Amino acid sequence: MEVQVLHMNGGLGETSYASNSLVQRKVISMTKPITEAAITQVYRSLDPTAYRFCIAELGCSSGPNTLFVAAELVKIVDQLSQIHGRQLPEFEIFLNDLPGNDFNSIFQSLLPQFRAQLNHEIGSKSAPCFVYGVPGSFYGRLFAANSLHFLHSSYSLMWLSKVPSGLEIWNKEDIYIGSRSPVTVIDAYYGQFRLDFWRFLRCRSEEVVGGGGMVLTILGRKSENAASKEGCYIWELLALSLKEMVSEGVIEKEKLHLFNIPQYTPSPAEVQRAVEEEGSFTISRLEASEIRWADCGGGGEHGYNVAKCMRSVAEPMLVEHFGDSIIERLFEKYQKILSDRMSKEETKFVNVTVSVIRRG
Ligand SMILES: C[S@@+](CC[C@H](N)C(=O)[O-])C[C@H]1O[C@@H](n2cnc3c(N)ncnc32)[C@H](O)[C@@H]1O
Repeated sequence: MEVQVLHMNGGLGETSYASNSLVQRKVISMTKPITEAAITQVYRSLDPTAYRFCIAELGCSSGPNTLFVAAELVKIVDQLSQIHGRQLPEFEIFLNDLPGNDFNSIFQSLLPQFRAQLNHEIGSKSAPCFVYGVPGSFYGRLFAANSLHFLHSSYSLMWLSKVPSGLEIWNKEDIYIGSRSPVTVIDAYYGQFRLDFWRFLRCRSEEVVGGGGMVLTILGRKSENAASKEGCYIWELLALSLKEMVSEGVIEKEKLHLFNIPQYTPSPAEVQRAVEEEGSFTISRLEASEIRWADCGGGGEHGYNVAKCMRSVAEPMLVEHFGDSIIERLFEKYQKILSDRMSKEETKFVNVTVSVIRRG
């Protein structure tokens, strides 16, 4: 699967990512103290006469989370400027995602709300914010050399640049790593993650100024076992729903064998090793936190909410491979399976957050 296929459901409707990203919003709020500490550290290390502060949100998607962190960062820099008696810098805010992302919704509806919010909270004294869309993969260069001060990314870097090669042969029974996955499957996924994350760090090392920082939250796991339930279960249950449709004759078995998710859920130790191997950044903080699947919220029953959340993320990939005729039925099945499992087990997502500073 090519990375270009990957994007969340666009628009603002019932099945859109914008309407189903509450759990991701909660994760951003949970990790806020880490982001605040990081931006404060970066601000203090800046040239006091700097008149420009450049921020990027990578994997920004399109929805209430797109400009959520940027608004917080502008407010913090405003407060810090007052405390330190410095002039408030002008802000450049870069919103990056893959070209298939719904950038139109960002600029048509989310940006006016962002400006109104800042005007309300900081007032007219606020320095101008110039906001840019940057379509492209964060596994390549996106920005000019030495141009960024602070970078944030949440729930995006677990997406790989592609489905690792070989899986079509080794991973017929699962769509991601599963509890019975052979070592070849785990190695293929981990190998792709190491390569991709290394590329990510190398590109950012050219773009972030010395003393600049990044806070990255990745859907991950605590265990050192890549096949542990924490990272895989949500996809195993989707695979189960797909297999039911194979037994009903709706999906061809061979078609399912060729479907694999381009994702890897790393452990904190794997993230640490990758940052240290690449060598351009030092780690200030590395933490793992948890959030319950039930926190997908949204007012309905738990299984329904989680299925909707996963649909807003996975639908474009599934449609590309299986066509759109299976989608309604698939997510009905998935919802039932999720409701059943959630009533019997404690089910959680694990978030790995790393805060790093570019070596000077
Ligand atoms: C689950 S969404 C998270 C969106 C948002 N950060 C949030 O927390 O709600 C993941 C986003 O990462 C984007 N993404 C995945 N791979 C990417 C890549 N290689 N380059 C840029 N964006 C990517 C997807 O298109 C998607 O919009």
